[in-house]
Amino acid sequence: MSVSKSATRNSNRPPENGASPRGRYWRLLGLSLGSGAVFAVLFYLWGHELFPRGAGRWGETFPFVGAVALTLAVALFLSEWFGFAGREVRKVRLAARDFLFLCSLALLLFFAAKAVIDLLAEIPAIGHGVPTRVYAYLIPLPAFAMVVRVLINSETSILFTVAASVLSAAAASGRWPALLFLLLAGTAGAARARRVPDRYRMLLVGVQTAPVCALAAAALEFSFHGGGGVLWAGIFGAVNGLLSGPIALAVMPVAESAFGYASDIRLMELSGTGHPLLSRLMRETPGTFHHSVVVGTLAEAGALAIGANPVLCRVAALYHDIGKLGKPQYYSENQAGAGNVHDVLSPGLSRAVILSHVKEGVRMAEEFRLGERITEIIGQHHGTSLLYCFLDKARPMIRDGKASEDMFRYPGPKPRTREAAIIMLADAAEAAVRSLDRPAPREVEAAVTGIVNRIYLDGQLNECDLTLRDLHAVGRAISQVLAAVAHGRVDYPSAGKGAG
Ligand SMILES: [Fe+2]
Ligand SMILES: [Fe+2]
Repeated sequence: MSVSKSATRNSNRPPENGASPRGRYWRLLGLSLGSGAVFAVLFYLWGHELFPRGAGRWGETFPFVGAVALTLAVALFLSEWFGFAGREVRKVRLAARDFLFLCSLALLLFFAAKAVIDLLAEIPAIGHGVPTRVYAYLIPLPAFAMVVRVLINSETSILFTVAASVLSAAAASGRWPALLFLLLAGTAGAARARRVPDRYRMLLVGVQTAPVCALAAAALEFSFHGGGGVLWAGIFGAVNGLLSGPIALAVMPVAESAFGYASDIRLMELSGTGHPLLSRLMRETPGTFHHSVVVGTLAEAGALAIGANPVLCRVAALYHDIGKLGKPQYYSENQAGAGNVHDVLSPGLSRAVILSHVKEGVRMAEEFRLGERITEIIGQHHGTSLLYCFLDKARPMIRDGKASEDMFRYPGPKPRTREAAIIMLADAAEAAVRSLDRPAPREVEAAVTGIVNRIYLDGQLNECDLTLRDLHAVGRAISQVLAAVAHGRVDYPSAGKGAG
C-alpha cells in the first residue's frame, strides 16, 4: 500500500487507539487483506458475469480464482492510482486511513452500481418499459464524490471520481455512455460541494447537480442510442442528482465515525457552546474563552482572504487552548485582577506549565473525539516557536549554561496546513495586540506585521502551503479585524505576553 511520505512523517497524527506504528501497520494490513477477502467473496457471488471465461481451466477446478484475480486487479489499480497521486500531487497527501477510505468507497460504489442495475431490472413496472442500459444513470457517484470533497479535499475528489467511474462503468458492463456520464456527474457533484456547513446546503448541492446530470444523461443517451430512452435517461439523471444530497448525508456520519473525519457539518455542531469542553472553557476560564473567540474571528477572516477553510479555522480556534483548562491561572488572559503567578516561579517551572497546554490539549481533543483536523491544529498552533515571555527571565541561566534557548521552544510540530498556520498567526497577533494600551489602527498594523515577520523568519511556516502572497493577505485581514476589536476592548494585563 502506497502512502505519501509527508503523511507518514506527520508525527502529530493521533495514534489510532494508542497502537504503536508497527501495531498500526499490522492492523492496517489485516484490515486490507480482510476487506480484500470480503470483496473477493462478493465478486465471486455477484460479479461472475465480469469474468465468465476469464479463469479458463483454472476456473473449472477452482471456481473462486476468477474473483480473486479480479479483486487483485482492482486493488492494484486503486493502489497505483491513489498511491501515485498521494506521493506526487502536492495537495493530495493521502495517509493510510484516507487510502483505505477511498478504496472502500470505490468498491462500495461498484456494488451499489450492480445493485441499482440488477434490482431495477427485477421491478416489472420499470423493467419492461425501460432499456436496461439507462439504469446506469442512477449509479450514485455524485453523492460519493461529494462526500470525498467534503471529508478530504477537491483534488482527491477528482481522483476518486475517475477511479470510481471506471469501476462503476465496469459494473454497468463497461458501456461508454455510462463511463462518460459518471465522470461528468461525479465532477459536477464534487464541484458544487465547496462549502457545506449544514445539511440544508448538502441537499441544495444535490438539487444544483440534478439538471447537469439530467442534461448529460439525455445527451449521452441520444448520441449513442438515438431517441428511444432519452426521456428515461433524463429522469434517471435528475433523480440521481436529487438523491445525491440525502445519500451523502447518510454516508458521511458513518465515514466520520469509522475513519475519524470531521466534516464542516460536524465542525458546526462542535462550535455550539453546549459542547462540554466549550462550556467548561466559558465557565472556568472566561479569559481563555474570550481569547479563543477573538482568535476564531481573526482566523476566519484570514481564511476567507486566501480561500482556506473559514469554518475549520473558526472552530479549531475555539478549541486551540483547551489544554489550559487544568491550570488557567498560569495564563495571562485569566489573570485579570490577580497577580502574575509566574513572578514567584522559576523560568524552568513556568516553561514546563506553559508548554504542557499543547500536549494536554491534544489529549483532551482525542478524549472528546474532536476529529483529526482540530486535534492536529491544537498540536501545531505554537509550532516550535520560542516562549519569548520567559526567555528574558531565563537569560542568566542560559548564559551560565544551565539552560539552552531550545528548552524554551514548544515541541512542535510546525503548522502543516494553511488553516493551522492562520491560527498560529491569529493567536500570536491577538496576544501581542492585547498587551498594547488602546492601540491606534496603525499601531495594530505594525504589531501584526512584526508578529507575521517574526513567525516567518523563525521558520514556523516552512512546512505548510502558505505562499508569501497568502501571508501578506492573512496579515492584512487580521490587522483589519484586530483594529476593530481593539478599538472597543477592555484593558488586559500585559504580563505573559506571547504565551497565548
Ligand atoms: Fe491561544
Ligand atoms: Fe496556546
